[in-house]
Amino acid sequence: MAPFIVFEGIDGSGKSTQIELLSQSLIANGHDPLVTQEPDGTPLGEAAGRWLRGYPNLSPVTELLLFEAARAEHVEKVIQPAIEAGRIVLSDRFAPSTMAYQSYGRGLDASIVEDLNRLAADGLKPTLTVFLDAPIEAARSRIEPDSLDVLESQRQEFHQRVRQGYLEMAANNPETWLTIDGTLPVDTIAEQIWARLQPLL
Ligand code: TMP
Repeated sequence: MAPFIVFEGIDGSGKSTQIELLSQSLIANGHDPLVTQEPDGTPLGEAAGRWLRGYPNLSPVTELLLFEAARAEHVEKVIQPAIEAGRIVLSDRFAPSTMAYQSYGRGLDASIVEDLNRLAADGLKPTLTVFLDAPIEAARSRIEPDSLDVLESQRQEFHQRVRQGYLEMAANNPETWLTIDGTLPVDTIAEQIWARLQPLL
């Protein structure tokens, strides 16, 4: 099975830029990567994303279940078939997002989130999780005010808790997580990701 690479970080941490750069490097080296994202990686995920962005007062449990439903579809219909076909998969967000946002951020029980993550992922675990860490203020300055969605416009403390969640997950999983200072120059970050990826290719 081909590697499954997940990108994580708070909103505005620079994930999309790095995914694009990595995808280009992989293509230049003869690979055929599949770039995807959560929650929008399938038609059901896009519909869930519209609900999540359009309704400001969804309960945390509703949010959790929508993200997990989107993930179950994403894993079964998009990610698994691609890695089984030998394609490297780059996903903008995966299960750690739900732990960070719905458990650390919204306060839902971590063991329930963990169980639902496992169920939705059908046992699939990322080969590598690239965590782009950036202080809240740095990340927010990259987000256009007009594009702030419901979750992105939550209070600063919420994002602090989310960041803390990521830092703890990264510290607990040093072998499968790569933490990078998201305030470094874009090219430096891309080089660090590329170097870490080499043994996996
Ligand atoms: P995006 O801005 O990277 O497209 O992500 C959409 C928002 O959804 C972002 O604020 C993070 C949030 N999110 C969760 O709260 N839980 C999840 O499980 C996922 C995948 C995303």
